[in-house]
Amino acid sequence: NLPPSDAFVFFGATGDLAYKKVFPALQAMIGRGHLNAPILGVARAGWTLDRLRERARASLEEHGGGVDQAAFAKLLDLLHYIEGDYHDRTTFDELRRQLAGAAHPIHYLAIPPSMFPVVIDHLGGSGSARNARVIVEKPFGRDLASARSLSDTIHTVFNEPDVFRIDHYLGKEAVQNLIVFRFANTFLEPIWNRNYVESVQITMAESFGVQGRGSFYEEAGAIRDVIQNHLMQVVGFLAMEPPATTYRDAIRDELVKVFRQVKPLGPGDLVRGQFQGYRDEPGVAPDSTVETFAALRLEVDSWRWEGVPFFIRAGKCLPVTATEVKVKFKRPPLTRLAPGIGNHLRLRLNPELSIALGARVKKPGEEMIGEPTELSLVHHESGDEMGAYERLLGDAMGGDATLFARQDAVEAAWAIVDPVLGHATPVHPYQPGTWGPAEAAAMTAEVGGWSDPEGSP
Ligand code: BG6
Repeated sequence: NLPPSDAFVFFGATGDLAYKKVFPALQAMIGRGHLNAPILGVARAGWTLDRLRERARASLEEHGGGVDQAAFAKLLDLLHYIEGDYHDRTTFDELRRQLAGAAHPIHYLAIPPSMFPVVIDHLGGSGSARNARVIVEKPFGRDLASARSLSDTIHTVFNEPDVFRIDHYLGKEAVQNLIVFRFANTFLEPIWNRNYVESVQITMAESFGVQGRGSFYEEAGAIRDVIQNHLMQVVGFLAMEPPATTYRDAIRDELVKVFRQVKPLGPGDLVRGQFQGYRDEPGVAPDSTVETFAALRLEVDSWRWEGVPFFIRAGKCLPVTATEVKVKFKRPPLTRLAPGIGNHLRLRLNPELSIALGARVKKPGEEMIGEPTELSLVHHESGDEMGAYERLLGDAMGGDATLFARQDAVEAAWAIVDPVLGHATPVHPYQPGTWGPAEAAAMTAEVGGWSDPEGSP
């Protein structure tokens, strides 16, 4: 690992991300005794430190589970504010002055990507990037070419080992559990391959729409917003080989290998949908063809997975909010006792972590026949565990990049979706509150259809 950071700088201190995620994470880190370094908020908003402190309080009340008096007092103590234009060198000279004494500052760019080049350039020019690292938020580009050029921009000032790209899905307990569950159990490995697995499905359903983020979403769409990043990482954890060692890049090395083994998508591998009413959202074009739903079929061309389809589906305005993985195993040969389908493993990643094994037991009564049941292996309601941002910002401060997206992995994941981005395929309308367009259902017919996660809207 890199040495721990001794100052936390965040650009966009008065913005939405700071309000929703950063202040709650900072309070939690301080509360656990994990953060005791100067925190420097930077923004151009005409604010004062007092106003930022008020903003922090409001953020904790709304998004941080309330104010923890002791931790909040400490947060106020550590918090500084630098008001200034990102285009103006003096903003960065002031930052440099306030960073005097910090050997390894970390700069968190909680700002729109269009501002990255300007801020990065000034960080370099002012000397604030020396022995420093940088945290960047998604989107990491909008296709393969722009992802490369974004990395080139960052690399003019920061070396790749000092770049921490946040994919908040990797901060989730249930997603990290995929690695532990796979590699801390012996019973799974013999069957976790093409000999026993028939298909894998991942559904990320959200019952809400674009929530006022219409103009953001117009630039993104479901594939760029959650599939290229969050759900590809889930595919990576499900499909990867055991990490070779415990050295810091071992897991990231295996992820890249999986992404490179996935065949780039063609138009026939994808169904795009758009919920009815999306075009009336503020910021959305009246003739928009951006997808709010996508279903796709991936092939992982590896020794372990050749021939096993991986289906992914993500959408807004679906019946429930839940993310689930379903691994379907091949059916047993004696179909008389267990007609129809085989076993499955259901891994629920959101809103709570649960793992269940679909099995068959004898149906009570005279008949010698199996009936389906699910054995619940684990069910964790979300509780006191670390939030994703607390975990990831803490890891970045501590210099541990394991759960951050590396350039080669980001590019390999873009290469998979790149051929079908944009309007290469038609977009089909669907009714809000349904499981997307009918065309998507046909995609999984060969494996008995989609399994819809349960949950409340
Ligand atoms: C974000 C997307 O990255 O992830 C959103 O931009 C999406 O559109 C969100 O709703 C889902 O993450 P979570 O953690 O709220 O399930």
